[in-house]
Amino acid sequence: MEDIIRVENLHVHFYSKDGVAKAVNGVNLSLQENSVLALVGESGSGKTVTALAILGLVPFPGRVVEGRILLNGENLLDSSPERLREIRGKEIGTVFQDAQAALNPRLPIAIQVEEALLAHTSMTKRDARIRAEEMLTEMGIPDPQRILNQYPFQLSGGMCQRIMLSIALALRPKVIIADEPTSNLDMTLQAWVLEHLRQLKREYGTTILLITHDMGVVAQMADHVAVIYSGSVVEYADTITLFKRPAHPYTWGLFQALPRLDDVERSLMPMRGRAPDPTELKDECPFIPRCPKATNICRTSPKPALRLIEDQHYVACFNEIRHDWEAAPASGSRRTTQPPAPPEPDPRPTHHA
Ligand SMILES: Nc1ncnc2c1ncn2[C@@H]1O[C@H](COP(=O)(O)OP(=O)(O)O)[C@@H](O)[C@H]1O
Ligand SMILES: [Mg+2]
Repeated sequence: MEDIIRVENLHVHFYSKDGVAKAVNGVNLSLQENSVLALVGESGSGKTVTALAILGLVPFPGRVVEGRILLNGENLLDSSPERLREIRGKEIGTVFQDAQAALNPRLPIAIQVEEALLAHTSMTKRDARIRAEEMLTEMGIPDPQRILNQYPFQLSGGMCQRIMLSIALALRPKVIIADEPTSNLDMTLQAWVLEHLRQLKREYGTTILLITHDMGVVAQMADHVAVIYSGSVVEYADTITLFKRPAHPYTWGLFQALPRLDDVERSLMPMRGRAPDPTELKDECPFIPRCPKATNICRTSPKPALRLIEDQHYVACFNEIRHDWEAAPASGSRRTTQPPAPPEPDPRPTHHA
């Protein structure tokens, strides 16, 4: 399959009087056409900054200092601000966690929806007004006329989320970046947003970068998963492989920290210890202080790069967890020297052809 977006060795630094925070420290990602890539990791691991870098929106005092971001082969780090504006919305749509903040507080909803349509399609102003109302209706928003005349602060977070999503959907971008799109929503709206994202992929082959810390959402949505730790990707695999055979001790810890996959509260629980301060990263594996498998080779070697361990499964670790024990009988007779099998994804990942 074609890579629609490739992020290669991305480094983003934030400069302050306290030093240089290496928020993104060598991220590699590839998004394949018509698939959902989940980017998972603890808070502060660099997920949002990676997404902002792809969009050309890293805020001051941050700067991309190294790497390439290729959209169909075009390096976005060399693109002009005009080209990036064109790309945002038209080619890469976004749905952010805080939809209320992502909308302009000073403009009524109607103007914002219409502006998106006018900027990225050849519609007339009159058509855009009509289309805006249709779009909200399609989102199941009651009384769209009234909503269109309101300002973001007058609406609930869930309503703002629906409006952002309707803008993202209407422009039918090839790629959608969804950064924690459901974390502030109640269960019903959450399911609704996820279903709409799935529908986009199914009907239009949209590629989705889904940032989340909810492994339940990953299991339901993702074709592939990239696990990020301290600003770099430490494991990448297809979803079923990652759930069955997590190889990086950090990924393993994420599953261990999970109460139960079918629990209502499925967010990742923090595991013991914490990630290093991004201003103090050294050229070594950043997981060493928390790692149950760290040995001398880890402490004396530069940071491990991603390495292929089985078909399409990459891990950045010298002592990855091996799953030969999987062949052992599953019923109660698991060898105690090995960690128990991770929970099966539930509900099962859905792969719409
Ligand atoms: N505006 C900012 N100014 C300074 N540092 C920032 C800023 N935004 C992010 N960072 C740094 O980047 C790191 C990664 O942040 P972020 O990408 O938002 O994490 P995530 O989305 O995974 O929770 C943070 O730990 C912080 O050190
Ligand atoms: Mg974030």
